[in-house]
Amino acid sequence: AFSCTARASAPVHNLTVIGSGLMGAGIAQVSAQTGHNVTLVDMTNELLQRAEQRIKGSVERVAKKQFKEDPKAQSDFASQTLSRIKYMVDVEKSVGSDCDLLIEAIIENMKIKQNLFSKLDKVAPSSTIFTSNTSSLSITEMASVTGRADRFGGLHFFNPVAVMKLVEVVRIAGTSDATFDTLTSYVTAVKKTPVCCKDTPGFIVNRLLVPYLAEAMRLLERGDASARDIDTAMKLGAGYPMGPIELADYVGLDVNKFVLDGWHKKFPDNPLFAPSETLNKLVDEGKLGVKTGEGFYKYDKK
Ligand code: 3HC
Repeated sequence: AFSCTARASAPVHNLTVIGSGLMGAGIAQVSAQTGHNVTLVDMTNELLQRAEQRIKGSVERVAKKQFKEDPKAQSDFASQTLSRIKYMVDVEKSVGSDCDLLIEAIIENMKIKQNLFSKLDKVAPSSTIFTSNTSSLSITEMASVTGRADRFGGLHFFNPVAVMKLVEVVRIAGTSDATFDTLTSYVTAVKKTPVCCKDTPGFIVNRLLVPYLAEAMRLLERGDASARDIDTAMKLGAGYPMGPIELADYVGLDVNKFVLDGWHKKFPDNPLFAPSETLNKLVDEGKLGVKTGEGFYKYDKK
């Protein structure tokens, strides 16, 4: 019954991305790179300026790769992409009459997300499709505070957004076929591959990845192997681009802990979601991985 083949659908021209962190900025970037007009929203101009710098750096990397020997094409691509992104602090004004799609990528907190969606539901055009980029929270709970469950779904991108080719398109019970078709077409338009899934904890990737990372930490805790050897083993023995310990540092140990704790609370009997002592200790010490310069490994601060 479930497949990811979209029929012809209304294309997305204009979208609003709320939250300009790593994910929101990446989503704005890949959308702008493929000709979409983007409004990127955050609470302060400082945050938006940081996002703009990050997007600029990443677009330049993409441009270099796409137009290897052609500096003019590189700079045209970069400037056209950047010119398609508008930055805004007023969230209620960010969903104008021409907004086809809204992607929420703010903090992983259900109450805060529900407040945002409920507020936007009142001001956004009725045709605007609402989506969340959450990695572990329920899309159904978010949609429940709006009157547009048929125009609601999940669009889950992966980090680094500019590079990772997958987007999970999450259908809740109410998502209409037309909405689903528009979401899948948008994913194809941003040159990613869509997969479709139901609104279950972690969807596909994180439902498999989070227990795998936690199990790697437990293996390390038991002293069965060193972090380096666990990582080398999964890279060379299973062909993963990163080992689980370095991937945990890359994703952020706070993020790992948040997801694991949330699921452990909801499903206390599931041993796959049991907390990891080492993870808790590192997060307590503020060692959150690559972004703080130390997690399981140490990194040069950028
Ligand atoms: N912007 C633009 N381009 C980038 C980039 C960025 N931010 N980061 C990397 N690239 C490009 C580089 O330019 C490089 O291009 P080239 O091959 O033409 O030189 C290419 O990507 C590879 O990068 P690097 O050479 O720096 O390094 P790697 O080959 O090790 O690749 C990686 C880096 C793509 C991050 C790879 O290690 C990888 O795929 N790791 C696994 C990532 C992963 O599993 N992500 C999912 C995390 S889970 C998640 O996001 C869900 C969330 O909800 C928690």
